[in-house]
Order: sequence, then structure tokens, then C-alpha cells
Amino acid sequence: MFDATSRDILMRHFCPNVIWHGSDLISSQAEGRQSDQSNWTSTELSAIEGVWGRISTDEIGAQAVARLLIVFPWIRWYFSRFGNLADPAAIMSNLNVISHGKTVMRALDKAVQNPFNIENTFAALSVIHSEKLHVDPDNFLLLADCITVCIAAKLGPTVFNVDTHEAFHKFMCEVVSAFKKRYH
Ligand code: HEM
Repeated sequence: MFDATSRDILMRHFCPNVIWHGSDLISSQAEGRQSDQSNWTSTELSAIEGVWGRISTDEIGAQAVARLLIVFPWIRWYFSRFGNLADPAAIMSNLNVISHGKTVMRALDKAVQNPFNIENTFAALSVIHSEKLHVDPDNFLLLADCITVCIAAKLGPTVFNVDTHEAFHKFMCEVVSAFKKRYH
């Protein structure tokens, strides 16, 4: 049904926790690595750094958290202490939402700076989201997608092209995987 290149692209999207070498798929277990340790090509790393260097993380963070709360309204329940989240206008002007966007993006910045150690970087936050905040882990991918959409809208299709999207998606999948790690 798919040629080899198309299949590899699909597999990269749907199987993020594997190690890729060019078009060859090598399981992390087969290489004797820890399953959480991701492998990056220099192209992927420069795409992720390029995205990060072109955005205002504070701006994107505020937009992404607002979008999360608007598009997926049940998530407002987790942020009930934030005050008025009644409608899109209230959410987008809510100072707690804007501030939380900065908090999220500053956490992500640590992963951008150290992409080979994402699981350890988020170990404590995974415990907090699981045991203290009781966040349903399915929601992590929703926030990851909101961040990606906001970045794509900001940078446009020429800069945020399919190759950049692929690298950034892989990065966000690693983040989501790290956040899910301490759930039992
Ligand atoms: C990329 C994914 C995420 C990142 C990087 C992230 C990051 C953070 C950080 C750094 C904090 C502050 C923790 C502290 O001060 O100890 C936090 C708090 C929090 N997060 Fe997340 N988070 C993510 C996803 C989510 C999702 C999907 C939800 C809910 C659906 C969520 C709900 C919360 C809540 C309710 C708090 C406490 C906010 C407050 O009361 O100030 N997080 N998050």
C-alpha cells in the first residue's frame, strides 16, 4: 500500500519511541539503550532550535493554554483556581492563563536545551501532574497539539514546513511520553 519512504514517515509519526537511523528503524531495546532515550538527527535538532529561536515563547504559551481551554472545555475544571474562564474572551485576557503559558513554555525550554534527557527533565513534573494535579494523561497530547498549532499559525507554512513539523512533532511526542512516565 505504501512505498518504503511513505511507510517510514508514517512509522515515525505513530511510533515516536523508537530510534531511527536514516530510513532504518532500530528498536531502542535492540541497541541496548534505555527506551526513553531518544535519538535525533542533526537536521531534526536544528529544526527544533530554529522553531524555538523564531518564536516568543511567552506569546505562544499564552495562546496555546488559552486554545487548550477553549477547544477542550472540560480542561477548565483543572484550572478552576484561575478565576473567570467562562468564554474565549475571558480566557484569552485571564492573567493566570497568560502566566501559566509562560510557565509551560519555560519548562519546555529545558527540553529544547537538553533534548537527549527529556525524561529526566520532566520526571518531577510527571509525578506532580499524576499524583498532585491528577491530570488525565490523554490531555498532554492535546496541549502538545495546541502548542504546535499556535507555532504553525505564527510561523506560516514556508517556515513551519512538513520537515519542521515532523521534527517538532517528534519533540512534542518525547515530551508527552516523559510526562506520562510516572503514571501507574
Ligand atoms: C506539555 C505539557 C505540559 C507542561 C510542559 C506543563 C508544565 C507545567 C508546569 C511547569 C507547572 C508548574 C508546576 C509547579 O509549579 O510545581 C504546571 C502546573 C499545572 N499543570 Fe501542567 N504542563 C503540561 C500539561 C498539562 C496539562 C495537559 C494539564 C491539564 C489538562 C495541566 C495542568 C496543570 C495544572 C492544573 C497545574 C497547576 C496550575 C496552578 O494552579 O498554578 N498541565 N504544568
